[in-house]
Amino acid sequence: MGIKVSAPGKIILSGEHSVVYGYPAIAAAVNWRLVRLPDGKVESKIPIGAGLGSSAAYAVSVSAAKIKKLDLERINRLAYQIEKKNHGSPSGVDNTTSTYGGFLWYRKEAENFKTFKQIEAKRKLPKLFLLNTGRPTESTKDMVEYVAGLRKKRGLYVEKIFRKIEKVTRSFLNYLSKESNGNFGHLIRDNERLLESLGVVSESTKAIIERIEKMGGYAKITGAGGREKGSGMVLVYHKDVEKIGLFAKENNLNMMPVKLGGEGVRIER
Ligand code: PMV
Repeated sequence: MGIKVSAPGKIILSGEHSVVYGYPAIAAAVNWRLVRLPDGKVESKIPIGAGLGSSAAYAVSVSAAKIKKLDLERINRLAYQIEKKNHGSPSGVDNTTSTYGGFLWYRKEAENFKTFKQIEAKRKLPKLFLLNTGRPTESTKDMVEYVAGLRKKRGLYVEKIFRKIEKVTRSFLNYLSKESNGNFGHLIRDNERLLESLGVVSESTKAIIERIEKMGGYAKITGAGGREKGSGMVLVYHKDVEKIGLFAKENNLNMMPVKLGGEGVRIER
């Protein structure tokens, strides 16, 4: 008999792309889950191809259904192998976040040596939204390869961006663990600028984000991004929730509230 399991999607708060090269990232499980029924059928609330880790949640569910008990280490290890088949050389941050849940500090030190630790969030995050800028024409693999190509051509430029991203990631950690006051919105904005200079944000997405900033809000892509058309979901923060809701409505943009720090993989009774 099969078992019923579920696994959450995730967002990357900071460190997408640089995480592939050994820089730290912070990822968080979200409140949407994929449910795998005993007969292998899958029901998912996680939007597909939007940088929300739907493929990793799928891999985690396959892995948990096979292992049949909540041995997180084994589930995660097998899920990574499944992800590798689909994506080439993923950092492993997606499957690890979907397995363990919460907020994770993640680092790929080497292909077979990844370190991570759950961050105890001592601060309640402000109300956040995910706004859909459209499905990217590129896959995560394409985007990772694009950055690899840029790094080959302009190594120093890319390393400098990665180092600045690491600084922002550390500031997010300090913010979450209440070691400094930091400004959440400014961290989102700084992160987005760095991702833009890496070239993983399309013109149409940049235009949307610029308008959000002009209204006093902040937004960043989350995940691999996209260059040609959409860049997937962007994480949005605005003090005035009504204002940002109206903006999305008036511009016919799909936007939904998101909760970070959800539970990891689970066996459902
Ligand atoms: O699959 P996505 O869109 O959430 O992106 C994953 C994050 C990357 O850093 C771009 C790739 C990786 O494997 O970490």
